[in-house]
Amino acid sequence: MNSLRPIQKRALALGINLEALPKHLAIIMDGNGRFATRQGLMRLWGHRQGYQTLKKVLLSSANLGVDYLTVYAFSAENWRRPEDEVSGLMTLIEEAARHELKGLRENNVRVRVIGRTHEVPLGLQEAIREMEETTSLNTGITFTLAINYGGRAEILDAVRGLLAEGADPATVTEETLSGRMYGPDLPDPDLMIRTAGELRWSNFLLWQAAYSELYVTDATWPEFGDEELLKAVVHYQKRTRKFGGLG
Ligand code: IPE
Ligand code: IPE
Ligand code: MG
Repeated sequence: MNSLRPIQKRALALGINLEALPKHLAIIMDGNGRFATRQGLMRLWGHRQGYQTLKKVLLSSANLGVDYLTVYAFSAENWRRPEDEVSGLMTLIEEAARHELKGLRENNVRVRVIGRTHEVPLGLQEAIREMEETTSLNTGITFTLAINYGGRAEILDAVRGLLAEGADPATVTEETLSGRMYGPDLPDPDLMIRTAGELRWSNFLLWQAAYSELYVTDATWPEFGDEELLKAVVHYQKRTRKFGGLG
């Protein structure tokens, strides 16, 4: 095939099987603050650099052939940070959502947002609604942003929903609960990447990541690029997924 995109050609050169890519890639985009601090700059500058990285990684993932990309943008626990960082992040996400709207629509990206979005500033809520609505019929990559997202909060919200409806415990299954998560139609992530070296989940997709393959790189999020992305896929394809069986 000579209709391969440049990133697919690079993937092939690294021995990646394009037929066995992770269908759903999830990323914990960590290390923006450290990246900035190391250079004597403000943490918010690091978040702005992280936004640039996200644009590139979304494009690369789509061009590579990944169907779903889900990224952790703001956790339900990140409100614990200093007020100026929190408001700076909220403003940055809102600006980015508005600024990228046209490009996302034209690039056939379907945008979803998961998390307790009713708790974020109204301007951001409006930008989220607009982004989801104008891209809902797109058929390319599904790009899910986790904003004010917590894995425990998500499970709790699912359980509360069932209890409120008076569900019969005997009929509640894992599928029932999966169907109550914020993105019930999203498949579970196959590969979970965390940047900046921490070996923890930080409350991301606790329910869905039960059998995700984890890949951690020391590169901070602003430093992450195509080379790192492809390296993670190479590692992923070397794993044997067993789901509790014998593989
Ligand atoms: C990740 O970078 C982005 C968010 C959590 C919003 P951090 O801000 O956590 O960066 P570090 O971990 O302090 O370096
Ligand atoms: C996880 O990173 C949240 C996001 C990337 C949005 P944190 O920086 O908040 O995680 P901890 O605090 O190091 O566990
Ligand atoms: Mg961090």
